[in-house]
Amino acid sequence: MMFHTLVFCCLCCCHLVGVFSESVSVMEGDSVTLNIDDTQIREDDYILWKFGAEKSIIAQIRRDFGVFNTFNGPDERFRDRLKLDKQTGSLTITNITTQHAGDYKLEIHRAKLSSKTFSVSVYARLPVPNITRDCSSSSSSSQQNCSLLCSVVNVGHVTLSWYKGNSLLSSISVSDLSISLSLPLEVEYQDKNSYSCVLNNPISNQTTHLNITQLCQPCAEVQCCDTVEAVMRLVVTALMGVAAAAAAVLLLNDVRSSRG
Ligand SMILES: *[C@@H]1O[C@H](CO)[C@@H](O)[C@H](O)[C@H]1NC(C)=O
Ligand SMILES: *[C@@H]1O[C@H](CO)[C@@H](O)[C@H](O)[C@H]1NC(C)=O
Ligand SMILES: *[C@@H]1O[C@H](CO)[C@@H](O)[C@H](O)[C@H]1NC(C)=O
Ligand SMILES: *[C@@H]1O[C@H](CO)[C@@H](O)[C@H](O)[C@H]1NC(C)=O
Ligand SMILES: *[C@@H]1O[C@H](CO)[C@@H](O)[C@H](O)[C@H]1NC(C)=O
Repeated sequence: MMFHTLVFCCLCCCHLVGVFSESVSVMEGDSVTLNIDDTQIREDDYILWKFGAEKSIIAQIRRDFGVFNTFNGPDERFRDRLKLDKQTGSLTITNITTQHAGDYKLEIHRAKLSSKTFSVSVYARLPVPNITRDCSSSSSSSQQNCSLLCSVVNVGHVTLSWYKGNSLLSSISVSDLSISLSLPLEVEYQDKNSYSCVLNNPISNQTTHLNITQLCQPCAEVQCCDTVEAVMRLVVTALMGVAAAAAAVLLLNDVRSSRG
């Protein structure tokens, strides 16, 4: 109760003196510490950490009363995830998920109120891009060229690119969440350059190197099945021919017998 009165008083009497903000990017599953720059916080400072548009209080510190509390948030999303540094008042969020992305507001209530907002972006761990032979491509029927596809599934806020050595050949970007992407590349069988497919978001990347010898085998299955189909057609045509001949013979016999 005492704190609330104190805060209320502070908010009434004083105006906001400092408004700062900082962007923080973190990978899903990692921990992030939101630091209070001012290591000179005083014993009697009342410090609040608030989260989201609703500004739910997730931590409060009042050192001279021995108060160091963390809260789970209205929907429990911070349960077992918050740690407070009793010296600095810094807040650590452990094993972060996309649910914990958003604005964290630090308020230091003294004679005057100062505040700072940390905008936390959480990025998913990236899958390794998968390079496959694309036998359905029309140009894969050409003798010199090999068509390839680099693909990833369930990604968001990423760029997928093909590199030849260090130079960018092509790329595709997506801002949506959870979609699948693929990017084609055509190389010659004898190509000795080194190619790689790179998936990246603002804080990390995953690379797969292309092995032409390994992937650019002739499109065996397609050739196999095409051949079988052709043989089948031939057989069917032949059978139909036989059937037609037989019908003709029967017809001829009919004509002969009716004459007879
Ligand atoms: C991290 O959070 C995820 C999702 O809530 C959970 O499945 C996983 O067990 C947690 N890992 C650790 C090390 O706490
Ligand atoms: C890559 O794609 C091929 C063909 O779709 C599939 O068989 C293989 O399991 C995939 N590999 C990975 C690592 O996803
Ligand atoms: C083969 O690929 C090269 C690029 O690697 C391209 O310039 C050429 O036009 C392709 N040829 C055919 C027949 O698709
Ligand atoms: C991938 O990340 C590494 C550091 O992890 C960086 O050195 C490299 O330049 C990045 N590559 C690309 C293509 O973004
Ligand atoms: C490419 O694949 C071939 C056949 O699988 C293998 O012998 C060769 O070592 C691979 N090259 C590289 C650079 O990994």
